[in-house]
Amino acid sequence: MARLHRTILLCTLVGSTLGSLYTDPSQLNSTTYDFIVVGAGTAGNVIAARLTENPSVRVLVVEAGVSDTGFRSQDLQIPLFAPRCPINSPFDWNYTTTPQKGLNNQVITYARGYVLGGSSATNLLTWTRGSRDDYNRFAEVIGDSSYSWNNMIKYFKKSEQWVHPRDGRDDSDEHNPAVHGTNGPVLLSTGGVRTVMDTRVLATTQQLSEEFPFNLDANSGDILGVGWLQSTMGGGSRSSSSTAYLRPALSSRKNLDVLIQTRATKLIKTGSSNGVPQFRSLEVGQTTSSKRFTFTARKETVLSAGAVGSPQILMLSGIGDPAELSKVGIKSTVSNPDVGKNLIDHPIVGAQYILPNDTATVDPITLGEDPAGLTDALAQWTANKTGILSSAGGNFIGFLRVPGNSTILKDGDPTAGPGSSHYELAWQAGFASSSQPPPTSGRYISNIHVVTTPTSRGSISLNSSNPFTSPIIDPNFFDTDYDLGVMVYAIRSAQRFIKAQPWNGFILAPYPDLAPIFADNSTDADIITYIRKFTRTIHHPVGTAAASKDKGKGVVDANLLVKNTSGIRVVDASVFPFLPSVHPLAGIYGIAELAADKIKHAYGI
Ligand SMILES: Cc1cc2nc3c(=O)[nH]c(=O)nc-3n(C[C@H](O)[C@H](O)[C@H](O)COP(=O)(O)OP(=O)(O)OC[C@H]3O[C@@H](n4cnc5c(N)ncnc54)[C@H](O)[C@@H]3O)c2cc1C
Ligand SMILES: *[C@@H]1O[C@H](CO)[C@@H](O)[C@H](O)[C@H]1NC(C)=O
Ligand SMILES: *[C@@H]1O[C@H](CO)[C@@H](O)[C@H](O)[C@H]1NC(C)=O
Ligand SMILES: *[C@@H]1O[C@H](CO)[C@@H](O)[C@H](O)[C@H]1NC(C)=O
Ligand SMILES: *[C@@H]1O[C@H](CO)[C@@H](O)[C@H](O)[C@H]1NC(C)=O
Ligand SMILES: *[C@@H]1O[C@H](CO)[C@@H](O)[C@H](O)[C@H]1NC(C)=O
Ligand SMILES: *[C@@H]1O[C@H](CO)[C@@H](O)[C@H](O)[C@H]1NC(C)=O
Ligand SMILES: *[C@@H]1O[C@H](CO)[C@@H](O)[C@H](O)[C@H]1NC(C)=O
Ligand SMILES: *[C@@H]1O[C@H](CO)[C@@H](O)[C@H](O)[C@H]1NC(C)=O
Repeated sequence: MARLHRTILLCTLVGSTLGSLYTDPSQLNSTTYDFIVVGAGTAGNVIAARLTENPSVRVLVVEAGVSDTGFRSQDLQIPLFAPRCPINSPFDWNYTTTPQKGLNNQVITYARGYVLGGSSATNLLTWTRGSRDDYNRFAEVIGDSSYSWNNMIKYFKKSEQWVHPRDGRDDSDEHNPAVHGTNGPVLLSTGGVRTVMDTRVLATTQQLSEEFPFNLDANSGDILGVGWLQSTMGGGSRSSSSTAYLRPALSSRKNLDVLIQTRATKLIKTGSSNGVPQFRSLEVGQTTSSKRFTFTARKETVLSAGAVGSPQILMLSGIGDPAELSKVGIKSTVSNPDVGKNLIDHPIVGAQYILPNDTATVDPITLGEDPAGLTDALAQWTANKTGILSSAGGNFIGFLRVPGNSTILKDGDPTAGPGSSHYELAWQAGFASSSQPPPTSGRYISNIHVVTTPTSRGSISLNSSNPFTSPIIDPNFFDTDYDLGVMVYAIRSAQRFIKAQPWNGFILAPYPDLAPIFADNSTDADIITYIRKFTRTIHHPVGTAAASKDKGKGVVDANLLVKNTSGIRVVDASVFPFLPSVHPLAGIYGIAELAADKIKHAYGI
């Protein structure tokens, strides 16, 4: 019966006779593997796929979320539908934050992918590595030159494969091919279609070139300026760590087992090694009250459960601040007060502008005014993966700095160096907002403002010893005047951009929420009122199991092994000691590729 069940799964879920995808721990044949990877997300799938390149290495991946080929899987594939994935969807953890004092005590949603591919399957596809300075600072703080830009570039290239935009246009003036990979797993390209704002954005980079210089390719290490947005898509579909790494490995290798709809509940201390506690076993379960199962790693367990999940599992295993753990009834196994601390995230606030109703934006389809247009677009996408649905919605992104003499920097410059950014602006050819209900009609363009090197620090902590209870998430947005000052500066900067000559006659008016702060004489106080009301997260948490060269600080060492333990490594966004001053996805893939090499080297595999 179990075997029959399993055969059905192989056919329906994987569509292959080789891969082994299980939905219940009782279906697994084996309880011992060489490596156990917790989380089939962005980083976890890189580790699983790279380690199983050696057919003698057996790997089990345990993923809490669902398959990416079942119910609503089209939402995961269609680039323009990316915003559907995190909100009220089967692919999300549905977390919320603590009341944010910097946001008028609002509680905000905190999306995290709950599906094969993790957040790479539900995110907004933006692909930015970071600046040379960002990685050179990592190397310095971690005490390992392998994290430096000059070394990381080979891992960035290894992870990616440049493909051309889906509409077939010439993209030679949209990127620099010399800085990109040509045969890695993650597909990337510039936008699937041109938009009505593209020539205006480009003209503005010419006319206001001092503030907004054109940058051909921000993934060269030189991030400053405005340039074409690169997104994780190819052939008209999203490329996730599942489609890029996990699925190809599952369908071609016998040494990989993937167990979904199952949570890691804790690591089990199995002895000690060189005087430090050893954790060789992992406990898993499917619900609060379901039977628990134990799997054992001959070599080690790699936690890739993300910046929320990985510190949660460490704390559930007794690795954390003993006093905090005892409050929820967990006995400390390894004291480390830094677990779950140092949460760094990017605050985002949007702005929208009203256009004449005959402007060609994505709004008729995304706002629901034109169901027939949506049907046609879906038919076209299904037929040959072209058209408006193959677009991620916007074609430009910029990374910028506040002037060196600005009072915002009076206490120093927190960026990694003069090549890193203080803020980001990006533009969408349609209505986009993380905090305002969408209108039901009209045509719009939007831009976002992001504080890219924030100085506020938050935390992840346990509210319960029950692994099925959400942890307490506090990004602590706008804890510092610097963060607020940069956001005010970014809003004024975006207004200088959109008030430039190329936009004359294109924009009719600011969106009503924006109108009070769109006048040239609007005050900082008015802008701050807008910021506190409408800011949300752009979902970039990192740092909660940070790497550090200092023996008494951070959670993992330069090889990403958990300090003062044996048998546990962390490979995901939690190990970043700082946020790169861009979106973190490409950096997480790069560091996962580096970590896979470190693991192979450590075991001679
Ligand atoms: C809505 C959204 C939009 C974003 N947009 C962008 C963007 O455009 N560009 C960009 O660069 N970044 C973006 N990000 C951020 C980026 O996607 C993440 O930083 C990155 O994917 C995180 O990778 P990770 O490996 O650390 O974690 P994840 O990819 O989240 O993987 C963690 C995995 O572990 C699983 N897991 C967690 N706990 C357990 C447990 N106890 N047991 C078993 N499994 C567990 C999760 O279900 C998940 O599959 C976005 C994120 C979100 C959520
Ligand atoms: C499962 O176990 C049986 C009996 O031990 C073995 O014959 C079979 O090959 C195993 N299957 C897999 C997929 O490992
Ligand atoms: C989040 O909510 C959606 C919709 O209600 C649900 O399908 C999904 O299973 C929830 N996620 C978790 C982790 O419970
Ligand atoms: C894709 O299909 C649409 C109509 O469904 C057609 O207009 C278009 O030319 C096709 N494109 C390609 C590249 O085949
Ligand atoms: C910064 O310098 C510029 C000229 O380089 C000047 O116009 C501006 O007023 C200065 N700002 C401050 C806050 O000193
Ligand atoms: C666009 O059309 C909508 C719906 O008919 C209408 O409410 C709105 O005022 C129009 N906008 C403009 C700018 O004309
Ligand atoms: C913690 O748990 C308590 C009791 O279940 C609940 O009321 C509270 O909202 C939780 N706190 C957070 C931040 O989730
Ligand atoms: C801003 O200028 C407008 C005229 O352009 C004026 O009506 C308004 O009162 C001014 N507001 C402030 C806060 O000075
Ligand atoms: C590791 O253990 C040593 C010795 O007990 C201690 O000094 C150090 O602070 C610990 N490291 C961390 C990160 O907790």
